[in-house]
Amino acid sequence: MQHDGIAGEHRHAHRHDRTAAPVDDQRRHPDVDEETARYWEELYGRRDRYWSGRANPILVDVAGPLPAGTVLDLGCGEGGDAIWLAGRGWRVTAVDVAETALDRASAAATEAGVASRIEFRRHDLTRTFPPGEFDLVSAQFLQSPLEFPRGEVLRSAARAVAPGGRLLVVEHGEVPPWGRHAHPDVRFPTPQETLAELDLDPDRWLTERLDAPRRQATGPDGHTGTLVDHVVLVRRRP
Ligand SMILES: C[S@@+](CC[C@H](N)C(=O)[O-])C[C@H]1O[C@@H](n2cnc3c(N)ncnc32)[C@H](O)[C@@H]1O
Repeated sequence: MQHDGIAGEHRHAHRHDRTAAPVDDQRRHPDVDEETARYWEELYGRRDRYWSGRANPILVDVAGPLPAGTVLDLGCGEGGDAIWLAGRGWRVTAVDVAETALDRASAAATEAGVASRIEFRRHDLTRTFPPGEFDLVSAQFLQSPLEFPRGEVLRSAARAVAPGGRLLVVEHGEVPPWGRHAHPDVRFPTPQETLAELDLDPDRWLTERLDAPRRQATGPDGHTGTLVDHVVLVRRRP
């Protein structure tokens, strides 16, 4: 596979020049649950841009002081985190199930001049998981109202951490104010429950953060509100 390509370039090559670099096979023949793909495509189809484009603040706090290495961004959406990380020198593998999100992310990466450091791949993480080991594996709001084997996916995420590397899981601790009408009764796992679900060997892993900070944020509808994040940061011993 070409490591300097981005999905948009691959697609272009595929359409117009059959002898050009091959399209990432996972992108062309993804093993994807149709209902999952439909749900997220429909969500992204509602607006030209769904998320802010800015990196998630807890990722910025955690990755900011780290030396750049390799990072896996799970459920990368429109690429705000991947682009920020690539801009700081990380080599990024960014994965999402939604083609529209990946297309937007790769266009934004090109615009930001960091496309050569990001590989966008389409995976339905309930079916396939990207190979390799990474210095940082980041799951930022990888949450779904559909059936989602969260524990299994997060345990795969932990297995993808290189020795000395970290897994950062950030999730909503409460439904954001702008989503409460649609999901009034949802309760999210606490950081402690997520850590338990990861089922990590304490001889091989250190827990660096386990907390639930609050912050002000603006939602996709433009309204501002207080969010609670659930944060789990674990480090695999070198
Ligand atoms: C709430 S959004 C978060 C996006 C991004 N991480 C951010 O913080 O802006 C969840 C993302 O996970 C993706 N996603 C949901 N289910 C998935 C699955 N089974 N496999 C891969 N990606 C998935 C969605 O397409 C969406 O982009």
